[in-house]
Amino acid sequence: MEQRYVKESRCYKTSRVFPTDVNNHNTLFGGKLMAYIDDIASIAASKHCRRNVVTASTDSVDFLSPVRTTDSVCLESFVTWTGRSSMEVFVKVITEDLKTGERTIAATSFLTFVALDDNKKPVAIPAVIPETEEEIRLHETAVHRAEMRRLRREESKKFADYLTVSFPWESDSGSDHS
Ligand SMILES: CC(C)(COP(=O)(O)OP(=O)(O)OC[C@H]1O[C@@H](n2cnc3c(N)ncnc32)[C@H](O)[C@@H]1OP(=O)(O)O)[C@@H](O)C(=O)NCCC(=O)NCCS
Repeated sequence: MEQRYVKESRCYKTSRVFPTDVNNHNTLFGGKLMAYIDDIASIAASKHCRRNVVTASTDSVDFLSPVRTTDSVCLESFVTWTGRSSMEVFVKVITEDLKTGERTIAATSFLTFVALDDNKKPVAIPAVIPETEEEIRLHETAVHRAEMRRLRREESKKFADYLTVSFPWESDSGSDHS
């Protein structure tokens, strides 16, 4: 079976925080950071499998400290674990105070991407090999997160079965799934 090292998927993106990127606290808007996270994670996933990929789930985003307009914001992303067609991608967000150089972990995120073939069907991908202490730790703990995802996905499917697709301004006849 084909295998790739974690380092083959690793990528980085560094940005400034512009006035249009902030919330009413004058710190980076969470939605903006989430878009950066999905963007870089999709690149790490693509680099690992060299296929088209889709985001299957954003498993967690933890905002640990605010990102200020005086900081640079650097995202690092890599594949930590692989299933058959799915891969877990980790994103680490590091801020740097541009005056002092002080660095902080501002956020962490785990996402799951699925590789698709030319017919848009899930396709087998290479396994991933961790090397550094950080990579090995993330790889080892991924088994537990994968099981949590499986359980949550089952719950989500059951949940979706009884959600309505009607809007309040529509008549009652539009409230079923037919
Ligand atoms: C993700 C998607 C391709 C999975 O297709 P599917 O027909 O459900 O495929 P399967 O049930 O065979 O699952 C394929 C793999 O995806 C994983 N998977 C599917 N849904 C998942 C979810 N919600 N979270 C985590 N993993 C998921 C499965 O565990 C499986 O992994 P494995 O091959 O490593 O064992 C499909 O649900 C999809 O296209 N979703 C929309 C994706 C999208 O549009 N993303 C952009 C966000 S707007």
